[in-house]
Amino acid sequence: MQEIAYVNGVFCPMEQATVSINDRGFQYGDSVYEVIAAYGGRPFRMADHLHRLGTSLSALRIELDLTTLKIESLVREGLTRCGFDEAMAYIQITRGVAPRTHIAPPGIKPTVVMTFRPLPQVSAPAKEHGVALMTAAEIRWAMCYVKATTLLPNVLTRMDARAGGFHDAIFVAPDGDVREGTSSNVVMVRGGRLVFPCRDASILHGVTLLTVTQCAEHLGIACEERPVHIDELRAADEMFLTSTTEEVLPVTSLDGRPIADGQVGAITRRMMATYHDLARGLGVFQDRRRNSA
Ligand SMILES: Cc1ncc(COP(=O)(O)O)c(C=O)c1O
Repeated sequence: MQEIAYVNGVFCPMEQATVSINDRGFQYGDSVYEVIAAYGGRPFRMADHLHRLGTSLSALRIELDLTTLKIESLVREGLTRCGFDEAMAYIQITRGVAPRTHIAPPGIKPTVVMTFRPLPQVSAPAKEHGVALMTAAEIRWAMCYVKATTLLPNVLTRMDARAGGFHDAIFVAPDGDVREGTSSNVVMVRGGRLVFPCRDASILHGVTLLTVTQCAEHLGIACEERPVHIDELRAADEMFLTSTTEEVLPVTSLDGRPIADGQVGAITRRMMATYHDLARGLGVFQDRRRNSA
């Protein structure tokens, strides 16, 4: 087992992978990315991730046909080569290499980079007791549905959260509209239903959130997608984050105040367990293993 990379057609050990300093991903953050989790060597929800990658590429007007690139089989090959049972496939596509000037020359060829590493594991205490979050001002741009690598607001806000002793922060707009975490979507439980902000341009349309809504349907739990005000979030019965690497992560306090009784809620536990089993093809989902990608 080893961490490996793929750069423009060639697989190599991670430490040998390089790109040009004239790459627009480096110069301007002119690039998009995806993170796909693999369980038992199999990519989970790959079709959804690649669909979103296509959306991000179109939004940045980067011309690259993912089917021609055979991206799906490259991801599978990388997962086989790295050999990790639970792996994280990272894909980054930049506009390409050119002398630094805002307008890229015509015909520029996108740079395609992938890395394959072990899937980060969420700590047992975080899963058992939930995490503490803080709220933060929404300082990002108007196209947050694009999974772009220009993540400075997210990075700085996460740094502030960690410096303050919080696990993460939730972006909240000046009018109190709840957006999302720095690398996750946010869901609250109210009256037995899952309630989460509208998947418009202001947030990333999480593949995990989509999967969670399907788990909820399987469990007979209703979902409501609508604007969520911060006051409502503070008064939630339960709260959790969703992301590819953190799966379903319980939140038990916000800005130092407990959510409900400050314990991980019953519905959150059911969502965590159901997602865990679906992703790994366990329990009632054993027969779905082959279709999980
Ligand atoms: C800002 C943001 N929101 C939400 C998510 C969750 O998306 P997904 O569930 O597809 O991993 C991410 C994941 O990285 C993210 O960066």
